Amino acid sequence: MIYARIAGTGSYLPPHILTNADLEKMVDTTDEWIFTRTGIKQRHRVTDELTSDLATQAALNAIEAAAIQPQDIDLIIVATTTPDKVFPSVATMVQRKLGISGCPAFDVQAVCSGFIYALATANHFIQSGQYKNALVIGAETFTRLCDYTDRSNCILWGDGAGAVILQASDQPGILSTHIHADGKYETHLHVPRSPDGSSKVIMEGNAVFKIAVNTLDQIVDETLAANGMQKSDIDWLVPHQANIRILQATARKLEMSMDKVVVTVDKHGNTSAASIPLALDTAVRDGRIQRGQTLLMEAFGGGFTWGSALVKF
Ligand code: ACO
Repeated sequence: MIYARIAGTGSYLPPHILTNADLEKMVDTTDEWIFTRTGIKQRHRVTDELTSDLATQAALNAIEAAAIQPQDIDLIIVATTTPDKVFPSVATMVQRKLGISGCPAFDVQAVCSGFIYALATANHFIQSGQYKNALVIGAETFTRLCDYTDRSNCILWGDGAGAVILQASDQPGILSTHIHADGKYETHLHVPRSPDGSSKVIMEGNAVFKIAVNTLDQIVDETLAANGMQKSDIDWLVPHQANIRILQATARKLEMSMDKVVVTVDKHGNTSAASIPLALDTAVRDGRIQRGQTLLMEAFGGGFTWGSALVKF
C-alpha cells in the first residue's frame, strides 16, 4: 500500500497588516463588531505581490522543511480563486519561479475548499504510484476581490499562502479524503462579472453561515465513519478559517475543547484556499502538532463546495 505522507509544511504572509482599527477608518464598523461576529483582529493584505509570489515563498518553506530539492518535485497543484492571470495557471508560474520544468502543474478552483480538493487530487496521484513528491499549495490574494465600501464583507478576507510536500511512503499519511459540491447555491457566495469588468465578492453571510455549520457536521460524521474512528481519536482539528463561531460549532460537534482546534482566523482573517495550510504550518512550527498525531482538516466554501481530509501526521 502506498500512502501520501506530509513530509514538510510551509507558509507565507505578505508583510502589510490591516487591523480592525484600520478598517474603522475605511468603513462604518468597529473592532468590537468585527471581533464579536468573526473572531478576526487583523489580516494580511498584499500591496504589489501576486498570488504566485506568495505561493512560491510558501513552497520554498515547505521544500526546506521536507529536506528535498525543487528538482525532486514531480507534481504541482495550486488551489486558488485569485490567480495572477486568467491563464496560465499559478501552478506553472510557481514551477518557473522554483527553477524547475517538465512536471505537471495545474490549478484547482474550489474557493475555500480548494486546498482539500487539491490535497485529495494529489493523494490519489501518489497512491496510484505515478508521483513521489507532490507540492500542494493553497494561495490567495482575496483582498483584491473585496469591495472596501461593503462593511459586511470586506472585514472578513485576508491574503496568504500555505504549502505541503506530499511524499509517497509505506507509512500511513493521508487516511482518507472526502470532497463534495452542490452548484444550486451559486449565488449565495460568488464573484459575478460586472459590465465594467470589476470583480467583487458578494455573499449572503447569514445563509452561508447556517448551511456551513450543518454541512461541516455531516462531513465530520462521514469522515469518522469511513475510518471507523471515534471523535476522541482526533488530536487536532485544522479547519478552514472563515469565522470563529463556525470553528466553535465544529469543535462542539466533535466534543473537542477549543485548545485542540488550530485557530488563526484572529490574525489571518479568511484567506480562502490558503487558510488550512497556513493553520497547519503555524501549529507544526510552534510545536503543537507532532508526528504521529491524527488531524482532521475540513472546509466549506463557494459553490457550495466542501470537504475533509483525515491525516496521520
Ligand atoms: N460593522 C458593523 N455592523 C455591521 C457590519 C460591520 N462590519 N457588517 C454588517 N453590519 C450590520 C448589518 O448591517 C446588520 O445591521 P441591521 O441589523 O441593522 O440590519 C447587522 O450588523 C447584522 O448583520 P448580519 O449580516 O446579519 O451579521 P452576521 O451576524 O450574519 O455576521 C458575517 C456577518 C460575519 C459575514 C457572518 O454571516 C459570517 O461569517 N458568515 C459566514 C461566512 C463564511 O463562512 N463564508 C464561507 C466560506 S467563504 C468562501 O468560500 C470564499
